[in-house]
Amino acid sequence: MTGRIPQSFIDELLNRVDIVEVIDARVPLKKSGREYSACCPFHNEKTPSFTVSQNKQFYHCFGCGAHGSAIGFLMDYEHFEFPEAIEELARGVGLDVPREADSGDHQAPPQRDSHYAVLERADRFYRSQLRDAGSAVEYLKKRGLSGEIAGRYGLGYAPAGWDALTRELGGDRHTQEIAVELGLLVRRDDGGLYDRFRDRVMFPIRDRRGRTIGFGGRVMGDEKPKYMNSPESPVFHKGQELYGLFEARKASQKLERLLVVEGYMDVVALAQFGISNAVATLGTATTPEHLERLFRTVPEVVFCFDGDAAGRRAGWRALEHALPVLKDGREARFLFLPDGEDPDSLIRRIGYQAFHEQTVDCVPLSQFFYATLSQQVDTRSVDGRAHLVELARPLLQKLPDSVFRDLMLNELGKHSGLPVAQLTARVFGNAPAAAAPAPKRRPVSSGRSPVRVAIRLLLEQPELSGCVQDLNAFRDLDMPGVDLLTELVEMLREHPHLHTAGILEHWRGRPEERHLAQLAVMPLEVSDGLQHEFEGAIQRLAEQRAAQRMQQLLSLDHGTGLTDPEKQELKQLFAARHPML
Ligand code: CTP
Ligand code: MN
Repeated sequence: MTGRIPQSFIDELLNRVDIVEVIDARVPLKKSGREYSACCPFHNEKTPSFTVSQNKQFYHCFGCGAHGSAIGFLMDYEHFEFPEAIEELARGVGLDVPREADSGDHQAPPQRDSHYAVLERADRFYRSQLRDAGSAVEYLKKRGLSGEIAGRYGLGYAPAGWDALTRELGGDRHTQEIAVELGLLVRRDDGGLYDRFRDRVMFPIRDRRGRTIGFGGRVMGDEKPKYMNSPESPVFHKGQELYGLFEARKASQKLERLLVVEGYMDVVALAQFGISNAVATLGTATTPEHLERLFRTVPEVVFCFDGDAAGRRAGWRALEHALPVLKDGREARFLFLPDGEDPDSLIRRIGYQAFHEQTVDCVPLSQFFYATLSQQVDTRSVDGRAHLVELARPLLQKLPDSVFRDLMLNELGKHSGLPVAQLTARVFGNAPAAAAPAPKRRPVSSGRSPVRVAIRLLLEQPELSGCVQDLNAFRDLDMPGVDLLTELVEMLREHPHLHTAGILEHWRGRPEERHLAQLAVMPLEVSDGLQHEFEGAIQRLAEQRAAQRMQQLLSLDHGTGLTDPEKQELKQLFAARHPML
């Protein structure tokens, strides 16, 4: 293993490269005001909401929320791993990437890395085993898959027997623990280990960046269970991930539409026939998180379900979850398959062209919506039509204010015979259909917590860290974000020349990174000058800390009593608070 890349080098590198050049070479940018912009490469859009700040060396998309430094951009856009992104940037500015010497006893790498590393080892192992496994290759061939498609989806084979992967992963306890947590190995009551996946064709499940985060494994005969899946783990969340999304995005730079199907085999078989934009949920129903992720990637989603009752129920559930995310420009449609078929069998029977036409020309959400509701009532009677309005009401309320919502209301008018104006009042209360506009993004200073204000300002102008006279004045304040602020100030005192993106790199992989990134793009509307504003926020923190401490001491006083130094402290706090006393 090579050693870690020193943080100091990453700092230096980010100071040398220009994110505008890095991105412009891949996504041509237009100058607009102080920033640069383009249509976002990470989701589909017609008007640019992707902005790059030269000052902050940071990109951010107001549409889909993608953000990061030049390093993060290369990781997401080029699907590079972290070290590859560093290498690429370093090459561009003529630097060599140094590595810290492996001292042998340095701290264990962060947990998450180890999960990914173990998954990658398992992935490589399963793939290598496929080459030697005649039966599995036979099976895939029999199902009509080419070597090219098997390679694209990284298919593998988990050998029969009980300890192939166990032996491959070796005797390291830490690795074994992680493999158990990932559900790759199972621990017996006597402490021994065995392989969970045995004699199965393996489908690696990859995240947005192409890292393997879990597996599905299929038996080749009729044994049960047919499919086995990795359990939830720190890196694998079934309700969020979509099988095949990475591969679909890789197959096309500009995806327009995604097809949601039920099975691994459906995704792979469709790709075999030239339809490479299918994704599958992982043995779960479609969740709101799935919908978010789908519509962030493309404007149009087609759900493929069985044509039977269960399929229609699943379709209805997907519809319900889709309603809240159906902004204008987004479209959901439904393809109900003939009885007894799944996409895999259907495309084999009718071929690419006919299948493709069906996906383009299938039931719009509005039609499925009213067809389903109308079945539940008798629209010939007044009561039935009133009932229809009642059924539609809570669902229509989920739709964001949009032209689409107006059209849906019109449609309800047709089905119920009520005039739209009346329906509007019924469905949305007496307010007109145009509900409250989306909340404007508030400037950072007004009414915000002083912690957020201080962090926001530091991200804008890191030198402000020099204005903090006494960290101890608020370090112990019990308030969300104070620890982060303290850490930020301490870090900036040591590295005063970082820009926003460089600062964020210090938090890479930590949960706080997201908060920092969100703050970094919050609009600043400060009138009094940044320093004044910053000092005000710090002052407020110190005051709140003093008040909190006073409360603490007072309740101690009531309880166990105060020590002499504590009495002294309380006196000082009072004096500072009420200088007249
Ligand atoms: N599934 C599962 N566990 C099972 C059966 C199914 O997790 N015991 C999930 C898998 O994600 C599978 C999907 O449900 O891909 C659809 O199942 P099914 O229609 O039974 O399988 P197919 O995808 O059609 O697979 P195949 O064609 O290989 O039978
Ligand atoms: Mn099938």
